Amino acid sequence: MSDTLKVGVIGTGMIGRDHIRRLAQVLSGVEVVAVADIDAARAKDAAPLGARVYTDGQALIDAADIEAVVVCSWGPAHETELLACIAAGKPVFCEKPMVTSEAAALRVIAAEAAAGRRLIQIGFMRRFDADYRRLKAVIDGGSLGAPLMYHSVHRNASVPKGLYTSEMPLNDTLVHDADIARFLLSDEIAGVEVRLPRRSTRGKDLRDPTFVLLHMASGALVDVEISVNIAYGYDIRGEVSCEAGVARLPERPATVVRDAHGVRQAVPEDWRERFIDAYDQEFREWIVAAKAGTATGPSAWDGYAATLVADAALRAVESGGLEAVAMRDKPAIYG
Ligand SMILES: NC(=O)c1ccc[n+]([C@@H]2O[C@H](COP(=O)([O-])OP(=O)(O)OC[C@H]3O[C@@H](n4cnc5c(N)ncnc54)[C@H](O)[C@@H]3O)[C@@H](O)[C@H]2O)c1
Repeated sequence: MSDTLKVGVIGTGMIGRDHIRRLAQVLSGVEVVAVADIDAARAKDAAPLGARVYTDGQALIDAADIEAVVVCSWGPAHETELLACIAAGKPVFCEKPMVTSEAAALRVIAAEAAAGRRLIQIGFMRRFDADYRRLKAVIDGGSLGAPLMYHSVHRNASVPKGLYTSEMPLNDTLVHDADIARFLLSDEIAGVEVRLPRRSTRGKDLRDPTFVLLHMASGALVDVEISVNIAYGYDIRGEVSCEAGVARLPERPATVVRDAHGVRQAVPEDWRERFIDAYDQEFREWIVAAKAGTATGPSAWDGYAATLVADAALRAVESGGLEAVAMRDKPAIYG
């Protein structure tokens, strides 16, 4: 492997373009040599100068000069792309959700386990955010005692009309809160309940907002508010209640304005602004591992866990009750 990791990016939509920008303009030790999108015009428009353009992700994965792949296509396309990267022995960064069904998650895990080494990192960028890492350090430090409850708030100003369906708060958005709950509490999710409050009129046909209760294996409880049309901005909150104290994420951005209108802080417009440093950091760590021919960070196992939670949450909407999450035995490659 050369000093500069030669990367191909599949999917040049909103986050694909943002990741191409950071790989091509912000981070070092990496070069985007090709991009692919089923929409040729979009791919061409997003390609850095000199990069090749494909409309077929498989052709990009197969290209001899591409050493590692970044997958930013839609969730239902991820399984095919991940299996192709594993077959080619190429490290791959894959945006969440890893896949959109338990069966697909098990196929990906089986293929990676058969390859005998980790090749996949999932885009759970919160694990690379400095605030979440400090919160985890406080919990792990033990001075507050065992965590009992975690309150997670996930608010978006709006979502693209027509593209975002009523299932997506649970199978596309909740996965971030589920993953960070597992990470912060070092615990597994054993059951899921969903409650649907009165609908926001801003959501039109969308079932929004959503209230989710995650039952952790330890007995700790995690409540998650998902609001995807809340107008005022992208607002991510987290507070953990432990036996002897509480700890919470700070407000971001941290600058406080005090004037004739009062005291206030800005609210990020969207995820690109709030997590800009976390996305940079997840790719710094990915580049180091990919150059060594492997992957670290959130794994396909973590993607599988989040998929199970999403599936259970969708069942819980139908049943109105507590839906169990049962994970298989963990293959050795996931530690
Ligand atoms: N980590 C995060 O915070 C975060 C934020 C936003 C989106 N995402 C995830 O990233 C993925 C993409 O989201 P987005 O907002 O960029 O969507 P988008 O609709 O803006 O872009 C997706 C792109 O993928 C292309 N595409 C779809 N299937 C393809 C295939 N088989 N081969 C090649 N190209 C294909 C589409 O033409 C489109 O250009 C989703 O899985 C989403 O959940 C993650």
